[in-house]
Amino acid sequence: MAKRVLVSGGAGYIGSHVTVELINAGYDVVVADNMSNCDMTCFEGVKKITGREDIPFCQIDCCDYASVDRLFSDYKIDAVIHFAAFKAVGESVAEPIMYYRNNLVSFLNILEAAKTHGGCNVLFSSSATVYGEAENLPVTEQTPRLPATSPYGNTKQMCEDILRDVVFATKDYDGAAQGPVKGIALRYFNPIGAHPSALIGELPRGVPNNLVPFITQTAIGKRECLSIFGNDYPTEDGTCLRDYIDIVDLAKAHVVAVSRMMDGKMKEGYEIFNIGTGRPVSVAELVNAFEKVNNLKLNYKFAPRRPGDVVAIWADTRLANEELGWKAERSVEETLAAAWAWEKRLAGK
Ligand code: UFG
Repeated sequence: MAKRVLVSGGAGYIGSHVTVELINAGYDVVVADNMSNCDMTCFEGVKKITGREDIPFCQIDCCDYASVDRLFSDYKIDAVIHFAAFKAVGESVAEPIMYYRNNLVSFLNILEAAKTHGGCNVLFSSSATVYGEAENLPVTEQTPRLPATSPYGNTKQMCEDILRDVVFATKDYDGAAQGPVKGIALRYFNPIGAHPSALIGELPRGVPNNLVPFITQTAIGKRECLSIFGNDYPTEDGTCLRDYIDIVDLAKAHVVAVSRMMDGKMKEGYEIFNIGTGRPVSVAELVNAFEKVNNLKLNYKFAPRRPGDVVAIWADTRLANEELGWKAERSVEETLAAAWAWEKRLAGK
């Protein structure tokens, strides 16, 4: 019988791409989502791409323990990939209680249910935000985390620590990575793009905070002009440097990480991997690449720096390359073409 993976937040942007890759790899899946930040577009897309109409979907809020517990009773769950969380940095500064409650309680409930039902492999979706403005680049998993600059970032750090502590809880852990809960935190850099089918992709609510959805919405005419935040940074062209990772490549990293856990290949009960390309790309370079690959002109202007932005961050990906046998494969051009195809499909073009 195929092993089953619970994907919490599985109807969202990253969750839907991961669900596709899990099914492609032969796993059974159960998707849980409270639909607070998405509609059924991506889940319907997942069914179309995989040709599977029967993917179990549970509309539950992971902050409700009884619902999570029931899910673990109804399905034999071999691993959880936990995406169910709020993710807007600015909003988290405005609404810290909402962020802490949602992001911490849902994860605690997942962990508690995992333990109660005999143990589980838990993959947590963390972020490069934990590194802050790192002194030495690229960052490795050993690069010290810096104090978070937003409640959102803080929830990522706290959830990493909670997962580590639960894995190594002395009550359960026998010292040989044999505790009931095993954990991997994947630290994503900047996920962008869409599935090549253009059936699933990013669906930001309201005005996008992130660069690529803002670019595609400007190109389609939904936004008048892209503001490039800052062109006076100490980088070659003055704009910030990021490590943009293709969403399908990122999804595949989840499959190899979760297989590593389920196949008993972990070296320690809790492991961390950077998931990026290892390639720094500036905002201006990304905008130019988008124009070139899609053969269009984007309306953009330079604007003041956005508060809270780090100048530059990119990943040292050697650990993921060597230990997971995973490597980002798609070029930034392919990814930007996929992002544009998705935006056009949304607009019915
Ligand atoms: N940017 C613009 N104009 C925009 C939007 C973004 O110039 O309209 C610039 C930003 O200033 C930054 C770059 O594009 O230099 C990337 O910005 P994003 O908002 O797309 O991504 P961030 O790097 O700020 O944040 C992302 C995730 C966060 C995560 C963080 C970790 O969105 O969830 O990476 O580093 F915490």
